[in-house]
Amino acid sequence: MIQLNTIEELHHWRSNLKNIALVPTMGNLHEGHLNLIREAKKKAAYVVVSIFVNPTQFGENEDFGTYPRTLAQDIEKAEQVGADAIFSPSVKEMYPYIEQTVWVTPGEISTQYCGKTRPIHFRGVATVVAKLLNIVQPEWAFFGKKDFQQLVIIKQMVEQLNFRTSIIGIDTKRDEKTGLALSSRNQYLNAQQQEQAPQLYQALLEIKNHILNGNKNFNELCQKAIKTLSKNGWDVDYIEVAKQHNLQSATCEDKDLVVLGAAKLGSTRLIDNIDFSL
Ligand code: PAF
Repeated sequence: MIQLNTIEELHHWRSNLKNIALVPTMGNLHEGHLNLIREAKKKAAYVVVSIFVNPTQFGENEDFGTYPRTLAQDIEKAEQVGADAIFSPSVKEMYPYIEQTVWVTPGEISTQYCGKTRPIHFRGVATVVAKLLNIVQPEWAFFGKKDFQQLVIIKQMVEQLNFRTSIIGIDTKRDEKTGLALSSRNQYLNAQQQEQAPQLYQALLEIKNHILNGNKNFNELCQKAIKTLSKNGWDVDYIEVAKQHNLQSATCEDKDLVVLGAAKLGSTRLIDNIDFSL
């Protein structure tokens, strides 16, 4: 496996190669990321894993400064599951201008759900993913469904801006016993919060099961879940049922649904979702 730090090195490495997949990450790789790399390797001849903690997707009071940076361990893990190259550029390499003046702005969807409390987040995500896709020019790019809103936004961007990369969403990896979605931010939780954290997934699962049993009163189901979580000490940001393809509010006629949730335990904000079809 080769480590590439500059765009020029990346271009040189990929110049005669075909069938490349990109797995974009911010590092601190866990089993969820490793699963994306394994899936990418099944499809592509070469897999590039980008590791870049992207400053433009963090708000002023968010955890950019403290986001875990574990490059040496990440390189080892990525190599073990078959990555061919790591692309780990500096902030200066990705954003050489003092002020970025051109952005990919994803529209109304980026102001809903997580966008309500993180107003610049998806603009930063879409812009850095556009840059990575242009730099690497992969045939496929792999993203976890854990960040469902991010996945929908990236699919819309690729479709509407005519990128040639196919976007592939992979199911969320969960703790086998509790169902807690794997996330780099889980390590911010203290012991008691770790025990409590699976409640978010359980609440979403309960909503899904009610819907599968014929209850289409989405609003009531979500309000009930919010109440239960709040009682257990969660500060709930949102819990909603939406259409899978564009995340607009679901109606009774919709068949392909996703239950989305975000809530804080202490100062740690967790997100999760479950997609399913009727
Ligand atoms: O999901 C992430 O880790 C990031 O948002 C991404 C897609 C790598 C862009 O920085």
